[in-house]
Amino acid sequence: MIESFYKYLKANGNIKKFATNFDNNKEPIHRWFPFLAGFSNKLVLETIKFFNLTNKVIYEPFMGSGTTGVVGKEIGVNVIGNESNEFLYRICKLKTRIDMSPTKFDKSAKRFLEICRDGWRRTSVKDEDPILKRCYSLHQLKKLVCLKERLSEEKWISNNVKEYLFMAVTMALPKTSNVGINVPYISWRHQKKPEEVFKVFERSIKVIKEDLEFARKRYRNNSKVKVYLHDSRIPNQAISDNSVDGIFTSPPYLNNFDYGESLKVFLYFWGYSSNWNDISKKIRYKAVASATTYYKESVLKSNQPDKILGNQMLKDAPLMCEKIKKIGESIRSAKIRKGSKKNFELLTYMYFKDMFKSLKEMYRITRINSLNFMIVGDSAPFGVHVPTDIFLGEIGKEIGFSSYEIIPLRERGTKWTTLKNRHNLKLRECILILKKER
Ligand SMILES: C[S@@+](CC[C@H](N)C(=O)[O-])C[C@H]1O[C@@H](n2cnc3c(N)ncnc32)[C@H](O)[C@@H]1O
Repeated sequence: MIESFYKYLKANGNIKKFATNFDNNKEPIHRWFPFLAGFSNKLVLETIKFFNLTNKVIYEPFMGSGTTGVVGKEIGVNVIGNESNEFLYRICKLKTRIDMSPTKFDKSAKRFLEICRDGWRRTSVKDEDPILKRCYSLHQLKKLVCLKERLSEEKWISNNVKEYLFMAVTMALPKTSNVGINVPYISWRHQKKPEEVFKVFERSIKVIKEDLEFARKRYRNNSKVKVYLHDSRIPNQAISDNSVDGIFTSPPYLNNFDYGESLKVFLYFWGYSSNWNDISKKIRYKAVASATTYYKESVLKSNQPDKILGNQMLKDAPLMCEKIKKIGESIRSAKIRKGSKKNFELLTYMYFKDMFKSLKEMYRITRINSLNFMIVGDSAPFGVHVPTDIFLGEIGKEIGFSSYEIIPLRERGTKWTTLKNRHNLKLRECILILKKER
């Protein structure tokens, strides 16, 4: 079965791009926010088709920008899931709702744009964060802030339309800045020519209108997508035991990628966060630890690996705890050899502890005979290979899943091989398929 699935995937798309957001840049709805850390909508689509999951319920614990949910809407699969980052949650909720009249939206949006075109010069940006002032020229920032302020002040616009306008302004943020704002972080050295704010906003309105029309005609409207602002490491009481037919997801990787930092301009602009501590409290501490910035090092440092992994994991997944501790020790030795201060061994313990909790919740929610797909990448801190895909499969087995299989999608990390101190190990991204059988 898995072999024919692999052949099917190869025949139905560019398998090397399946673990990336590449396919989402041009597709209706997906293109509103093709999240850098997202996977291809085509991968979700083809998996659902191959395994005949139409009309079934899929759990997505790491919703992100909502790729799985949008595909669910498109082809009639019910999706239920969590996203713990408030900004992404808002985008995900909007992209998976699609309950707006395209003409009503278009009419309001155009009137709104005219108001902003007339009034932006009077907008003050003196209270805006210095980072925003560095990313945008004065006039561009005034226009963006005018859009944001009018959006909250104009009483004649319905809340529903306002959400789509929020999306259109968000779509304008990366295109109108002087520097790359999410590639994956603000790249101060990557100067670029910004596009004029109102032009981009107008184009975004057109895109949203077209996509709403497309969705009305083409999407099956019988499917439900429910997304919770929730941390998937903690049981979600709204989702019952054994209630879903499968999982389609991609957790954060153990690769020191900081989701808070990569979305910083969006978070600052919309007022979700205003400084480092705020991002930590609202984003990092509510998520699976994927970077050394995700926890208080001062607290962890004095702890033994056992204490970090925690009693529950030591009890439920003892074999994997031993393996993780061994690998943690190798990472620590490599760190000392290289004279680095980055405690990637602590991150490794934290990551697997968080993923253990998330996997326990996945196990609780899924039915017997469910098929559970997870897109994951491995990593090599200080050149020590951590086979994340295998480790997650093995932890899955220790907590009750009956077996797992791995389908490689692509090699990655090769573009950094010229960097000094960079390891030359080949990394990969794959589909980890966890089975839950009686
Ligand atoms: C690899 S991305 C998934 C991207 C998604 N597939 C998409 O289409 O955009 C991982 C996502 O998990 C979220 N996340 C991380 N830890 C979480 C947690 N404990 N609970 C819920 N969401 C979490 C992150 O905010 C991020 O959006």
